[in-house]
Amino acid sequence: MLTLELTDQTGAVTQAEWQAAAAEAAPVLARAQAGEERYADSLGWLDPTLWGGQDWAGRAAALAQQLRGFADTFVVIGVGGSNNAARTVVEALDLPGGMRIVWAGNTLSPHAMNRMLAQLEGRSPVIDCIAKNFETLEPGASFRVLRRWLTDRYGKQEAARRILCTGTPGSSLEKLAKEQGYTFLPFPEPIGGRFTALSPVHLMPMAAAGADVAALCRGAEKMAAALRRQPADENPALQYAALRYLLWQKGYRAELLSCFEPRMKGLFKWWEQLFAESEGKDGRGLLPVTGEFSEQLHSLGQFIQDGTHILFETFLNVKEQQASLSLAPDGVEDGFGYLDDKDFEDLNRAAFAATRTAHSATLPCVTLTIDRVDEENLGGLFYFFQFACYLSAELLGVNPFDQPGVEAYKGWMFRALGKPGA
Ligand code: PA5
Repeated sequence: MLTLELTDQTGAVTQAEWQAAAAEAAPVLARAQAGEERYADSLGWLDPTLWGGQDWAGRAAALAQQLRGFADTFVVIGVGGSNNAARTVVEALDLPGGMRIVWAGNTLSPHAMNRMLAQLEGRSPVIDCIAKNFETLEPGASFRVLRRWLTDRYGKQEAARRILCTGTPGSSLEKLAKEQGYTFLPFPEPIGGRFTALSPVHLMPMAAAGADVAALCRGAEKMAAALRRQPADENPALQYAALRYLLWQKGYRAELLSCFEPRMKGLFKWWEQLFAESEGKDGRGLLPVTGEFSEQLHSLGQFIQDGTHILFETFLNVKEQQASLSLAPDGVEDGFGYLDDKDFEDLNRAAFAATRTAHSATLPCVTLTIDRVDEENLGGLFYFFQFACYLSAELLGVNPFDQPGVEAYKGWMFRALGKPGA
């Protein structure tokens, strides 16, 4: 199970203050556990069996198996909440036997688009256009290019067999899918993009990649059962949210999520989106930033240790050793004899312990430990962060489920491109 630990040599925050903040936040937890009426149209994720769970996991796995019968590559066309969760799983896990996943719909760069298309040469692809309302430009434009690519190569009928659309029932994407004979999957109406990690939106590409989506859903269900029942003093999501709010009140303006496993790079993007879009509004919120260690200790590390005091740090720590590589000596005197016969795991753990000791001298540090990196733990982690983010935004006094700032840029872009009615 997931645990949290505070390490702070600066005295900025004490255990007692943290506990008091969590106790004060208990009514917010109680409201969230009950399911708030005012957010009813955004809380479809709160019970992960409603729009996910074993039923949807089974359906996604079955469709993935069917697609693998004639295709070897699955193109995910989606941006933000329609991309990041599946990407987290694909980048974190070694998934032999699954389809190759290609990412599209998250850029408007012709260079990047051409690179993406080049990845399809010599492959047998299917595509999945994931878009809640099918108005976002990046997936819309990419879908057009990829549809045409498939039709040119296979003809209209075979192309249709290779096209999936994931959208809300009643949306223009569903209409288009029906007209063209594409497979249509539901994007749950009562879930905003960044909260869809455990829904069909992401279970489909995860299953196509070969992930055990049943285990992922199991992990989420266990986490949900715990967080929706635990009282404030035992509830890690409430404790994390309360600590974030306490530190925000004390003047901290950014949270750095860092990890010594580069495979968690996809999770970083997902986490950044979840917290930035949910909390960054009304002049409030912590800027979510991420540190891929140990590489970025050699860049960000200077600022973290010694720069403006706006940051606190959350280390994502993995308890179990899942890989091993020995540093056996090769007889060459290279000045690294002190590493003889150590394992890279020893080095990575030493780097983590040293970094936490060093950083906690100048900024508050939290360690969030999960057991291992696998489907079940990732499912639990998705739910943990979604629930904690909801609580955290509530404490901050902002609506967790809208993103008016993102809409503003879209308006300017649509007008510049001459979209009717923009
Ligand atoms: O979390 C959100 O709601 C957003 O980040 C969306 O996921 C993102 O903008 C993509 O939207 P859509 O699926 O409608 O294209």
